Amino acid sequence: MKYKGFSKKLQIWDLKFNDRAMPWKKEKDPYKIWLSEIILQQTRVEQGLAYYEKFIKHFPTIKDLAAANGKKVFKLWEGLGYYTRCKNLIFTAKEIVEQYNGVFPNDYHEILKLKGIGPYTAAAIASFAFNQPYPVVDGNVFRVLSRYFGIDTPIDTTEGKNLFTDLANMVLDKKNPAGHNQAMMDFGATVCKPVNPICEPCVFKKSCKAFLQNRVEMLPVKNKKTIVKKRQFYFFVIESKGKIALRERLEKDIWLHLHEFPVVETQKQEDINALIKNVQKAGWINKDAVLLRISKPFIQKLTHQVIHAIFIELKVTKTPAALSKYIWMDRSLLQNISFPKIIREYLKSSGQQ
Ligand code: ADE
Repeated sequence: MKYKGFSKKLQIWDLKFNDRAMPWKKEKDPYKIWLSEIILQQTRVEQGLAYYEKFIKHFPTIKDLAAANGKKVFKLWEGLGYYTRCKNLIFTAKEIVEQYNGVFPNDYHEILKLKGIGPYTAAAIASFAFNQPYPVVDGNVFRVLSRYFGIDTPIDTTEGKNLFTDLANMVLDKKNPAGHNQAMMDFGATVCKPVNPICEPCVFKKSCKAFLQNRVEMLPVKNKKTIVKKRQFYFFVIESKGKIALRERLEKDIWLHLHEFPVVETQKQEDINALIKNVQKAGWINKDAVLLRISKPFIQKLTHQVIHAIFIELKVTKTPAALSKYIWMDRSLLQNISFPKIIREYLKSSGQQ
């Protein structure tokens, strides 16, 4: 397989044409690299920037993060989703302070042992901070390699993963793994994009097999379609004496440690009057409850789930017994609470924030 000169061309592209400016570029502090990578696993660069700046401002060092109040960290993470990542971030910061004296380990295999750090993040930290020769390998890298080498082995199979990981190791510039990896990430994100890749001016135009064989749009190949589960949430926004009922989600599910209103989850859309009757029976509201408003449907897409939510606003005159364990929070304080994105959107759009 011809690959000599791959990394050289990639780095020429980086030098001449890559104008992606990011605050963590050329960063050598493993803590900051780690943070930026974890944030970027959650969101696109444009949106991730603000989170990165916020985190660095509040927690300039790993010791600050380790010592932080968990609630404050979750609040800063709000909107990024997938809260296990945030939980692992806190856990690992503490572990590095306690087990490693606050000094980030400087070896790929040692880094890989840390909770929440997989091969991709370990390679990014080891190469950017310590110039160790490990290639970053993710969907973007698979795509670039699948096209460059014209290989149609599905990238979501063990065989494909092993093959493309070997190729990523093969093309890596072992003398400059940091420059190579950063260029690879940017190239996959801005030139060799999933749709509408920019092939005409591409530095690999003469050597990219997919381009030469007119197969760019067909590669990479994926075997499975992701199955997306639909979930319907009916949130009951119950107000009693100016306070709203809330709870923290503690189940092993989406939105761990975020807050929500009393909720009924159903498989499909339900009749709202029937639902209100049911929650009345369950003692969430009394007979004299007043229905104030039913919101429009809100939708949030997660990787494997689509959440549909409707918010039913009710007013009651005395606190319902069945909700006595809930947190009854003053409306004006809702802005300090960490909510899933879909609830925050509802609060904003209904003028409550
Ligand atoms: N995506 C993930 N990490 C990145 C980085 N360091 N630069 C650009 N895109 C990225």
